[in-house]
Amino acid sequence: MPAMCALLLALLLWAPITAVQGFLGDHCEFYPSTGLCENGATWDGIKCVCQTGFFGYRCQALLDSITIDTPETVNATVDVLVKVTYRNFTKDLENTSSKAYRDFTELFKKRMDKVYKDLPEYRHVSIRKLSNGSIIVEHDVILETNYTSDFQDVFKNLTKIVKAKIINETKSLLNADNCQGTEVLCYDEKATVVADTPQLSFDPQEQCMKNVAKDFARFYYVDELEGKLACVTKCTAGTKTQLNCNEGTCQLQRSGPRCLCPNTNTYWYWGQTCEWSTSKSLVYGSIGAVAVILLIVVVALSIFLGLSRRKLYRPEYNLSREWQAEEIPGSFQNRGIWEGKNLKEDRFGLGSTYSHFQPSLENMDPNIELHIQRPKVITAAQ
Ligand SMILES: *[C@@H]1O[C@H](CO)[C@@H](O)[C@H](O)[C@H]1NC(C)=O
Ligand SMILES: *[C@@H]1O[C@H](CO)[C@@H](O)[C@H](O)[C@H]1NC(C)=O
Ligand SMILES: *[C@@H]1O[C@H](CO)[C@@H](O)[C@H](O)[C@H]1NC(C)=O
Ligand SMILES: *[C@@H]1O[C@H](CO)[C@@H](O)[C@H](O)[C@H]1NC(C)=O
Ligand SMILES: *[C@@H]1O[C@H](CO)[C@@H](O)[C@H](O)[C@H]1NC(C)=O
Ligand SMILES: *[C@@H]1O[C@H](CO)[C@@H](O)[C@H](O)[C@H]1NC(C)=O
Ligand SMILES: *[C@@H]1O[C@H](CO)[C@@H](O)[C@H](O)[C@H]1NC(C)=O
Repeated sequence: MPAMCALLLALLLWAPITAVQGFLGDHCEFYPSTGLCENGATWDGIKCVCQTGFFGYRCQALLDSITIDTPETVNATVDVLVKVTYRNFTKDLENTSSKAYRDFTELFKKRMDKVYKDLPEYRHVSIRKLSNGSIIVEHDVILETNYTSDFQDVFKNLTKIVKAKIINETKSLLNADNCQGTEVLCYDEKATVVADTPQLSFDPQEQCMKNVAKDFARFYYVDELEGKLACVTKCTAGTKTQLNCNEGTCQLQRSGPRCLCPNTNTYWYWGQTCEWSTSKSLVYGSIGAVAVILLIVVVALSIFLGLSRRKLYRPEYNLSREWQAEEIPGSFQNRGIWEGKNLKEDRFGLGSTYSHFQPSLENMDPNIELHIQRPKVITAAQ
């Protein structure tokens, strides 16, 4: 291949550009024309610059899989709302730089650190907003774990623990006297709200969608490939969810993943996943057998028809005998010929005797011919 490419390079330097337009290949990376870039790729003067999700010298192919870089740790944000009672909301609490705000949030955070202290994944609490109604505290509980493949489940469980802890905290009733102290927090238990689904700092599906071709994004999903997270399709080999095309090959088309069934020298394959196959020799054999059977049927039929046609001719002969019996005077001058051996054995016998009758006899049914013949003869006699 390098030799080939060197040759083509020589050609490219020598010949006008049009002369090498036909010379393109997977290894000879010459792009003499902008028109060759596919799938919305742009031409930068040297090569096709592929859109996300495509590759190849013309950007003609879809990426089969994209490995997703996994972070070492993953954060989760659990959205929580609690209502602190026995306190008056003041204008100061709207100002994040005010002393009142800092004092209150510090007190609140310290308290929360105690609430979640035996949760190793707990990092801190982040206050989002204070609002009037005694004091409504909207905040986030930040959790962090080392990345594991089931981190989403881990965080779901952790969210449940967070919820149990904050509900337990807000329902711990202190009597009204105790709640007056500035270092004490009392809550309205019923007002506590904890979001069921945490917001995760790492979303593999989102990573996947970012790196695949837009028109095909709906066919990509996250799965494990060789022990790593990857963005794959049903056509990606080596995943648990791979589409089994049996003898066929899987191809991602605009309509989705499809099995392309092969036609080998000996078998035909068909079906959604090429699950059906037929031996070509079997098909040819069957066609042969059917043909033979048909041939036999045709032969048998023609023999049968031949026999029944002979039976049909019998009355003809009888008719001529009837005519003989009629004994019409002068009607049959050539009686000897009508009784002739030729007529009995061969329906063209008459034709061979009377050469002027021959053309019409060959084209017509002998049955009709006889009926036409008769009045003629009689008329001639009268
Ligand atoms: C997780 O949270 C910590 C502390 O808030 C932050 O330093 C870190 O960058 C976050 N990690 C990710 C992956 O967002
Ligand atoms: C809150 O305000 C009410 C009246 O507006 C007052 O009676 C009460 O003592 C105040 N509570 C605190 C903790 O300042
Ligand atoms: C908070 O709400 C109470 C009652 O709804 C009201 O009297 C008070 O003025 C409000 N405080 C602020 C700072 O808006
Ligand atoms: C917020 O509080 C700071 C410090 O007390 C003060 O300087 C500032 O003027 C306040 N801002 C508003 C909008 O009240
Ligand atoms: C997270 O990983 C570090 C080393 O990478 C380890 O020291 C630490 O114990 C792990 N934490 C958890 C919660 O498994
Ligand atoms: C989540 O909790 C359930 C039940 O408490 C447990 O069976 C499951 O193993 C936990 N999952 C993880 C990933 O910790
Ligand atoms: C619930 O709260 C009480 C008192 O605040 C505490 O003693 C107890 O351990 C808490 N239970 C849980 C499961 O956190």
